[in-house]
Amino acid sequence: MTTTLQDASPIIIAHRGASGYRPEHTLAAYELAIALGADYIEPDLVSTKDGVLIARHENEISETTDVASHAEFAHRQTTKIIDGESKTGWFTEDFTLVELKTLRAKERIPQLRSQNIAYDGLLEIPTLQEIINLVKGKSAEINRAIGIYPETKHPTYFKSIGLALEAPLLATLTVNGYQGANAPVFIQSFEVSNLQDLSTKTDLPLVQLLNNSGKPDDFAVSGNERTYADLATASGLREIAKYAQAVGVHKNLLVPRDSNGKLRSPTSLVTDAHAAGLLVHVWTFRNEDCFLPLDFQGNPQGEYELFFSLGVDGVFSDYPDTAGYHSTVQW
Ligand code: G3P
Ligand code: CA
Repeated sequence: MTTTLQDASPIIIAHRGASGYRPEHTLAAYELAIALGADYIEPDLVSTKDGVLIARHENEISETTDVASHAEFAHRQTTKIIDGESKTGWFTEDFTLVELKTLRAKERIPQLRSQNIAYDGLLEIPTLQEIINLVKGKSAEINRAIGIYPETKHPTYFKSIGLALEAPLLATLTVNGYQGANAPVFIQSFEVSNLQDLSTKTDLPLVQLLNNSGKPDDFAVSGNERTYADLATASGLREIAKYAQAVGVHKNLLVPRDSNGKLRSPTSLVTDAHAAGLLVHVWTFRNEDCFLPLDFQGNPQGEYELFFSLGVDGVFSDYPDTAGYHSTVQW
């Protein structure tokens, strides 16, 4: 058993809230996550037309809201290139907050999570401020500090249209009292340059996300040839440690799978990251067999135990109760 960087229990980060049980990125999903024991809740952030930060996994919202059934917004359907990919639908930056508040969330994967369909049409898109209000209220109510783990989504794109995410994010965190390296906040990004810039403006902990393929979109735009695989090397991690305090990594970068979905031997990434002084938070843990490796079909707890045994410092989970219900770590 390898220990975590600071010898603490790994944190449970509720991925998009308790998104296994409620439509993702809704106050109901975040509230349930807190009730189920999450240490942090994770809002992915995009911008409205009027510059308000709201929680959505992507700026195209037809998969997670009822926007397509709003006749008054039919003319706003359009096609855009986002992070190098053509997307057709409705985009948050084309709506004011007041307009977005008329929409309701829906379950992203109803074929897998049919019990969540009952909540379709009931829940609003929350703002970052509303999420902070919930977290602070619940923390006081249950006398337990709950953290927030916001992600800047499509930062280069939003900067390109004059709706940069970082300034309103820092302003909102500051006005709500989140300051300093020990604040219960991690700011995450799949891009590099916005984190490097943030590191000059805030002491709040920063998290470099590492995917298991491809490259950061800001690298693609600037012509930087490095990939996530380059960033995940020992030397790449030492570079990250100059501006970030943690890496948020795809599970397969720690324990690769073969073509049949069976786990292979762990890599040295946890050891390398810890040697660089970086915490390692891993995504994404889900209960459903289609997301689990062959080795742990019907046994999501077993998957957590494997990763905890590698010394990871935190896990992003759709099911925070499952993440906390395991045999090897005392909570
Ligand atoms: O932010 C890390 C984790 O959430 C995985 O990324 O695509 O679900 O936002 P994503
Ligand atoms: Ca995320």
